[in-house]
Amino acid sequence: LNYIIVAPARFDSVIDHLRVNFPDEPLNASVGLCLHGTPCPLLEHHDMKTMEDGYSLMAIDKENDKIAGVALNGVSHKGDTEKAVEEMKDIDNLQYRRIFGLLNEANLELDLFTKYNVDKIFEVRILSVDSGYRGKGIAKELFVQSEAVARKHGFKVMKTDATSLFTQKVAESQGFWVEKTLNYHDFKDENGQKIYDTRPPHLYYKVMAKLLE
Ligand code: ACO
Repeated sequence: LNYIIVAPARFDSVIDHLRVNFPDEPLNASVGLCLHGTPCPLLEHHDMKTMEDGYSLMAIDKENDKIAGVALNGVSHKGDTEKAVEEMKDIDNLQYRRIFGLLNEANLELDLFTKYNVDKIFEVRILSVDSGYRGKGIAKELFVQSEAVARKHGFKVMKTDATSLFTQKVAESQGFWVEKTLNYHDFKDENGQKIYDTRPPHLYYKVMAKLLE
C-alpha cells in the first residue's frame, strides 16, 4: 500500500469510500446518521472541511488504485468547539445533534487548549478502512503516518475522539492516553431508552491525546 496525503483531486473518491465504509462507525451505527452507500450531507460537509486542511492521509492499494483506508486529519483552533456548539443551534437533524453534541460537550469540558497551553491541535477526526482490508494493521499505519505529518508541521498536541474500541487500541499502542471516558449506555432519553445503543465491543467513547514534544 502507498500512504499519501489526500490531494483535492481525490476528495470525491474519499467521500465515495466513506459512504460505503464509515456507516459502521459505532456511534453512527447506533443513531443511524449515515446509511451504507447513501450520501450523508452533514457529515460529508465536515469531511470536506477537514480534507481542505491538507493533512489527511489515504492508503492506496498499488495493485488496483483502490482506497484501502483514510485518516481525515484536521486542525482544531481554540474557540472552534464553542463555534460548533453555536452552529449546532441551526441544525435540526437529531442524529447529527446526538453525535456531535456528545463530542462537542466532552471537548468543551476538557479544554485541551488551556490544559496544554496551545492554540491549535492536530486532530484525527475520521479513521476508516475498507471492509475488505480490515484487520491488517492499516488503521495503525494511518495513525503512525498521521503523527509524522503532525510532527512535520510543528504540532505539539495530537488528539482523537475515539468512538470505536479498535481506534482506542490503535491510539493506545501509539502512546496516546485517555483524557476522558464516557460509557455510551449511561445516556438515556426521557423515556429511559438508551440514546447510544452501541454494539459490543464498542461500549465507550474516549478522548485520547498525545504530546509530540
Ligand atoms: N475484532 C477485534 N479486534 C479488531 C477488529 C475486529 N473486527 N478490527 C480491528 N481490531 C483491533 C486489532 O486487533 C488491533 O488491535 P491490536 O493492536 O490490539 O491487535 C486494532 O483493532 C487495530 O487494528 P487495525 O487492523 O489497524 O484496524 P483496521 O485497519 O481494521 O481499521 C477501523 C479499524 C478503522 C476502526 C475499521 O474497523 C473501520 O473502518 N471501522 C468503521 C469506521 C470506524 O469505526 N472508524 C473509527 C471511528 S473513531 C474515529 O474515526 C476517530
